[in-house]
Amino acid sequence: MNDPLITAALAARGWAHAPYSKFQVGAALEDSEGHIHTGCNVENASYALTVCAERIAACKAVSEGARQFRRIAVAADTTPLTPPCGACRQVLWEICGDIEVILVNLQGETESMRLRDLFPRPFHAAFL
Ligand code: THU
Repeated sequence: MNDPLITAALAARGWAHAPYSKFQVGAALEDSEGHIHTGCNVENASYALTVCAERIAACKAVSEGARQFRRIAVAADTTPLTPPCGACRQVLWEICGDIEVILVNLQGETESMRLRDLFPRPFHAAFL
């Protein structure tokens, strides 16, 4: 629990804009230089416009010039731990490749996995 990436994901969760679901999520994405890019879910009254914490973090990182990534931590108040949704798996695969995905909850429980195991047989640019 001394991992700064986990601390950052838990802190980012506190910024969630989730007035509809009340389900707060935080994400922290570590790039190859060790910089941490955070995100929280941002909901909208037009529900389909909601953006998950993981995609906010990925888009922020790319928009700041980061191109290579090591790990992402995802924080939510659930047991079992909350994994990235399908849309986020697709986006993370394209932007980050096979990174380590760390799930964490408010009790400090963690679980670590590779994105390739969460997202087997991805659709990607080589098909185009
Ligand atoms: N959500 C995330 O931000 N990340 C996930 O991995 C799962 C779901 C958000 C979207 C929405 O604001 C709320 O959680 C409920 O689905």
